[in-house]
Amino acid sequence: MTDTTRADSREMIAVHDMFRREFSASPGLVENVSPGDKEHAAVVADHLAFVSQLLHAHHGAEDALLWPKLEQRAPEGTGTLLTMMRDDHEEIDRRLDAVTSAAAAWRAAADASCRQGLLLALHELLPALDRHLTAEESGALQLIDAHLSADEWAQVGHHGLAELPPEAHALLFGMLLHDLGPELYELVKRTVPADIFDVVSVAGPREYARHLRLLQGTA
Ligand SMILES: [Fe+2]
Repeated sequence: MTDTTRADSREMIAVHDMFRREFSASPGLVENVSPGDKEHAAVVADHLAFVSQLLHAHHGAEDALLWPKLEQRAPEGTGTLLTMMRDDHEEIDRRLDAVTSAAAAWRAAADASCRQGLLLALHELLPALDRHLTAEESGALQLIDAHLSADEWAQVGHHGLAELPPEAHALLFGMLLHDLGPELYELVKRTVPADIFDVVSVAGPREYARHLRLLQGTA
């Protein structure tokens, strides 16, 4: 490690809070779509696909760039935690796949029975996701701060960002920056490349507000 500045893993809490908010709001959004309203169902199904893609990208970055470093640098005591984190990612992937299938069926038919199928799939996902995010925060964040440099930690975020097309950045950052306190806002600002942050910190909140109006059917 050449960079001696330590990682500051509080940024992970901002990302997790975004996932908590978006996934826990999703059953209400689905319930709010009237049977037969295919246009509204497609908007909500697209949103679910987007937040699922973000979660895949987040977990993919951790699997590629985080767990292997912690395993190598803090072998004592990390085995159980890292096994749990990897198992959780697999379980959440399976449950996300079930949500994706149910959302595709609902998008096509937009009927009450497909809507119920999607609600069931979401209710299977939400407690597993919440348990995982909380376990990761209590077990992994202190290890990140102790064993990764700031550069290495930034690479984890950039890996996740690279999975997304640039046109998705405004909505992502609108979601991420929403409701952030000043401390976490500054932290995110420092870790995102300045040329991206300058654009998305302005366009993001507008895009997210527009997105919410469409989701809620009030646009
Ligand atoms: Fe995470």
